[in-house]
Amino acid sequence: MLLGLLLALLGCAAALDPALQEAWEGWKSLHAKEYPEEAEAARREVWEKNLQRIQQHNQEESQGQHTFRLAMNHLGDLTDEEFNQLLNGFTPARREQPALLFQASAVLKTPAEVDWRAKGYVTPVKNQGHCGSCWAFSATGALEGLVFNRTGKLAVLSEQNLIDCSRKLGNNGCHGGYMTHAFQYVHDNGGLNSEHVYPYTATDTSSCRYNPQDRAANCSTIWLVAQGSEVALEQAVAAVGPVSVAVDASSFQFHFYKSGIFSSMFCSQRVNHGMLAVGYGMSQEHGRNISYWILKNSWSEVWGEQGYIRLLKGTDNQCGVANQASFPML
Ligand SMILES: *[C@@H]1O[C@H](CO)[C@@H](O)[C@H](O)[C@H]1NC(C)=O
Ligand SMILES: *[C@@H]1O[C@H](CO)[C@@H](O)[C@H](O)[C@H]1NC(C)=O
Ligand SMILES: *[C@@H]1O[C@H](CO)[C@@H](O)[C@H](O)[C@H]1NC(C)=O
Repeated sequence: MLLGLLLALLGCAAALDPALQEAWEGWKSLHAKEYPEEAEAARREVWEKNLQRIQQHNQEESQGQHTFRLAMNHLGDLTDEEFNQLLNGFTPARREQPALLFQASAVLKTPAEVDWRAKGYVTPVKNQGHCGSCWAFSATGALEGLVFNRTGKLAVLSEQNLIDCSRKLGNNGCHGGYMTHAFQYVHDNGGLNSEHVYPYTATDTSSCRYNPQDRAANCSTIWLVAQGSEVALEQAVAAVGPVSVAVDASSFQFHFYKSGIFSSMFCSQRVNHGMLAVGYGMSQEHGRNISYWILKNSWSEVWGEQGYIRLLKGTDNQCGVANQASFPML
């Protein structure tokens, strides 16, 4: 309904830049976009506006005003509101699952840099499509790391299994969910299927098709990382492996992030998007050391640094990264 109204409003006000015709056609063909004739002008206007804002930001970046660059991507025909409605499906849980608390320890020493991708713990970047199932991708990511740790084998796990089967725990398919409730499902169910036998469809209207013959993961306990503590999160990532996190991904800059170390005054502490912390590191920028988190996203490899973002670490809990961190254990 919202979409219809938007299209109607923009449709009659369309003032398109003819110089962008070729770029628009190229973008449509690159991402296999097709629109009904009456919708195309409105979509192009949204895309042009996004492109303008991206170019503006990159110009500011080249003048030293930002530490990261933006780029047009496959989601460039969405307004900020549509983007958030379609893709950001995490809401902080009100009623938490029974869980253990991981707190920062004064004696635990962590390495200066950690990257679980290099240790074989992380599967290739996935694509959630137009479905607010980030929570399921974040959860499978943490479970994939756990399975690798225990078996030495990297199994690609099924988000669709979580979407179809964890409704009674309070998850809501393409309309949002919680990583902790996904872990709880795996715990209660006694397993989770692999992506191979239970493939992703980016829809949430199927009934549960879990097959106990193909158990590819387990979970016996759920841990919450002390809320808001980047020190505890660093220790968890260093000691355990990839950890599920949630961030505020609602800003335009986040939607079109391409490279560099992300920090934005438009990022709040209200988290709405599930991701996976796979490590952290430090980079020298203009003679200063800047620490960052390495977060895996589920918006395909087109987005960010081959599907990942480096997010400013250790200063002010940027984008609320430490507010809802959790991981499963065996
Ligand atoms: C799994 O984790 C434990 C403890 O965190 C570690 O000692 C072990 O080397 C890990 N196994 C693999 C295969 O990475
Ligand atoms: C899960 O747990 C069961 C029972 O403890 C065990 O037999 C099985 O190998 C485990 N599977 C995985 C993938 O860890
Ligand atoms: C940056 O980090 C390196 C390695 O940890 C350290 O040797 C160096 O002194 C740091 N530089 C600054 C400016 O803090």
